[in-house]
Amino acid sequence: MLNIILFGPPGSGKGTQSEKLIVKYGLKHLSTGDLLRSEIAAQTPLGLEAKAIMDKGHLVPDEVVIGMISSALEANPTSSGFLFDGFPRTEAQSIALDSLLELKNTEIAAVLSLEVGEDELIKRLLQRGLTSGRSDDTNEEIIRARIVEYHKKTSVVADYYSQFDKVRNIKGEGTVDEIFQALCKEVDQYTM
Ligand code: AP5
Repeated sequence: MLNIILFGPPGSGKGTQSEKLIVKYGLKHLSTGDLLRSEIAAQTPLGLEAKAIMDKGHLVPDEVVIGMISSALEANPTSSGFLFDGFPRTEAQSIALDSLLELKNTEIAAVLSLEVGEDELIKRLLQRGLTSGRSDDTNEEIIRARIVEYHKKTSVVADYYSQFDKVRNIKGEGTVDEIFQALCKEVDQYTM
């Protein structure tokens, strides 16, 4: 099995690159942001609770997202690997993910970390907010709150996986194809 974490701040291109990587490497895409937005669209109690938190740019509680990932792993027993996008976002989520994968006798191969400057992140997200319908993209203050939350709570995920020498930094600015090629160069090392 090949399990990759695509890591980076809001707007760094995780979703864009995930779509391409899952096709090339036959991985199952697991995005906690997408899973949460499905709950919101279905107006479930979990979705309603999550929406209030996401609209402020804050993180949804660990137990909620860990439960979602656990169910998604169970629902895909024959997958040849997973691409995690937007998860894990805290050290507790990282530890939980490692335990869940250990139960399947597998582990994270690499954490590919997309590096993008803050001005570019804000520009991309405001631009997407014009058409995406995502309420957390339309207001610059909320976008900045998401970036602050990333530095406060999520950047530690890279520290956590660095102790196992699993983090690879990738320049996340340039064309989508240039960044994809740089990501593939890393992933290929685990498939050859
Ligand atoms: P989530 O859905 O994960 O959003 P995010 O991390 O804020 O990331 P985005 O989807 O905004 O950006 P991205 O890095 O995927 O970039 P994208 O490819 O879309 O999370 C949303 C919320 O859910 C969180 O704030 C939190 O509340 C909650 N949540 C989710 N997971 C959680 C967890 N594990 N724990 C707790 N809470 C959780 O690109 C962005 C834009 O840039 C697009 O318009 C794209 O077209 C454009 N773009 C991409 N690449 C390029 C490029 N190379 N050049 C120019 N533009 C580009």
